[in-house]
Amino acid sequence: MRRTSVLVTGANKGLGYETARRLGESGWTVFLGSRDEERGRAAVEKLAAEGADAVLVPLDVTSDESVAGALRLVREHTDRLDVLVNNAGTPGRIVPPADSTAEEVHGAFDTNVYGAIRV
Ligand SMILES: NC(=O)c1ccc[n+]([C@@H]2O[C@H](COP(=O)([O-])OP(=O)(O)OC[C@H]3O[C@@H](n4cnc5c(N)ncnc54)[C@H](OP(=O)(O)O)[C@@H]3O)[C@@H](O)[C@H]2O)c1
Repeated sequence: MRRTSVLVTGANKGLGYETARRLGESGWTVFLGSRDEERGRAAVEKLAAEGADAVLVPLDVTSDESVAGALRLVREHTDRLDVLVNNAGTPGRIVPPADSTAEEVHGAFDTNVYGAIRV
């Protein structure tokens, strides 16, 4: 029977990694998104060592080109993605509102808001 498949963005560490780990443990095919290939590869290797079916997907959610490349890669493995976990995110620089700049806030929105839409 075909495995349920999931793409988790920002899954090289933190909550994304733990989500990927638990779904891998449950027998799902995990497409592990990571903007840094080395960190992503290390995470995939750890999951694979635990017996998970995990595939590294280089993916920076702030880049249309990167998202398109990730889509191509996933399509090489499956014609159906069952679940998307838009996990990649950044807290930005945590300062009082009067001390923040539009540029900084734009950066956080690019990842946390537009990133999810892009993906
Ligand atoms: N932990 C909490 O208490 C909490 C509370 C509220 C919301 N959240 C949200 O839950 C999510 C995970 O939180 P966490 O605590 O696990 O955070 P984390 O440990 O900082 O992990 C964030 C993940 O997102 C990735 N990421 C950041 N920018 C990215 C980009 N442009 N493209 C692709 N990946 C990117 C990071 O990659 P790198 O390793 O390359 O930096 C990392 O893999 C985030 O969206 C966070 O905002 C967390």
